[in-house]
Amino acid sequence: MPLILAIESSCDETSASVCRDGEILSNSIATQAIHHKYGGVVPELASRAHMQQIIPVVTDALKRAEVSIAEIDAFAFTQSPGLIGALLVGAQFTKSLALATGKPLIAVHHMQAHVLANLIDNPKPSFPFLCLTVSGGHTQIVCCHSPYQLEILGKTIDDAVGEAFDKTAKMLGLPYPGGPLIDKYASKGNPNAYHFPEPKIAGLDFSFSGIKTAILYFLNNAGKSTLYKENFLADTTERKIFIAQNLNDICASVQNRLVSILLKKLEKATEQTGINEVCIAGGVSANSELRSRFKLLGESKGWNTYIPAFQYCTDNAAMIAIAAYYKYLNKDFSSLSVVPSARSEW
Ligand code: KG4
Ligand code: ZN
Repeated sequence: MPLILAIESSCDETSASVCRDGEILSNSIATQAIHHKYGGVVPELASRAHMQQIIPVVTDALKRAEVSIAEIDAFAFTQSPGLIGALLVGAQFTKSLALATGKPLIAVHHMQAHVLANLIDNPKPSFPFLCLTVSGGHTQIVCCHSPYQLEILGKTIDDAVGEAFDKTAKMLGLPYPGGPLIDKYASKGNPNAYHFPEPKIAGLDFSFSGIKTAILYFLNNAGKSTLYKENFLADTTERKIFIAQNLNDICASVQNRLVSILLKKLEKATEQTGINEVCIAGGVSANSELRSRFKLLGESKGWNTYIPAFQYCTDNAAMIAIAAYYKYLNKDFSSLSVVPSARSEW
C-alpha cells in the first residue's frame, strides 16, 4: 500500500498530491495569476511563484489527505519537460524530502503523466489504449501498451494545439490563457460562420502554424479573406469593430476547425491500430466542444472513450502521483543526483 507524495511544477501551476495504493487522496493546486497581465508565462516569475507556493501547497495536500511526511513511502516530482527554472524548484524540494526521510525518489515525465491521468478514476481503459494528449506545449497521439510502455504515434511538427488556442485569443485581444475564454465565447457562436483551412499533413502528425497565420490574415482583412492581401488592415478600427461584433462566431469557427483537426487524426489512429479503447488528456481536453464531440464520435465508431475528471486534465500533481505509483510498483526509482530537463521525449 505505497503512500506517495507527488509534486508538479513544470509551468505555472504549483501542485502537490498524495496517493495511497493508486487512489488519489488529495490534489492541491495553486495557479499563478501573476502571468495574466503579461499575456503569457514569464519563466522567472514562475520560478519565484513556485518558491513561494511550494510549502503551503504541500502542507495543504498532506492535510487534506490526513497524513504526515513521516508516513510517506516515496516522493515523486516532474522531471521533464517544462520551464527549467520552474522544474528545478520542484525537483530540488522533492530531493530534499527524499534525502531527509531516506525514502525513494521517483522522477516522472509530465506528458506520460497526462496520459496516465486516465488511470486515476474508474472505469479505466484497458491496455493497449490510444490517447490524444493536447496541451499548451504538446499535441500527441500516444499508444499506451502498459503504464511502462508508451509509444508516440504522431505529434505536431510546429505549434501545439493549446498554443493555437492561446495565440488566437491573443490576436482577439483576450487575456492569457485564452483557451478557456475561446471555449466560453464559442458556446454562444456559430461554428460554421467562417471557414479556416485544414492543414495537409500526412500520417498521424499535426500542424497548427498555417491555421494561426490564416486567422491573423482573416482578422487583418476584417473577415473578408484568410489570405494575405496588399491592402492589409492590420490593427485598424475596422479590424477591432469586426472582432467586437463577431467574437462569438470567430471563436466558435476557430474552435470547430481545431477540434476537427484533432478528431480526424485520432480516428485515423484507431483505424491504423485497430484499437478502440480511446482517451484524451492534457489541458485542452478541458475544452467542452472537444469533450462532447469526442464522446459522440466514440459512440458512432463503437469506441470505449475516457476523459480524466476536469481537475486532472490541466496541470496537476495527481497525474504525477498516479504515474509514480506504477513506477513504484516497478521499483523504478531515481538517484538523488537526477536533474530536470526542459525538453525530452521519453
Ligand atoms: O496541460 P496544460 O495545463 O499545461 C501544459 O502542459 O501545457 O495545458 C494548458 C493549455 C493552454 O494552452 C490552455 O489554453 C489550454 O490548455 N486550455 C484550453 C481549455 N482549458 C485549458 N483550451 C481550450 N479550451 C479549454 N477549455
Ligand atoms: Zn501539462
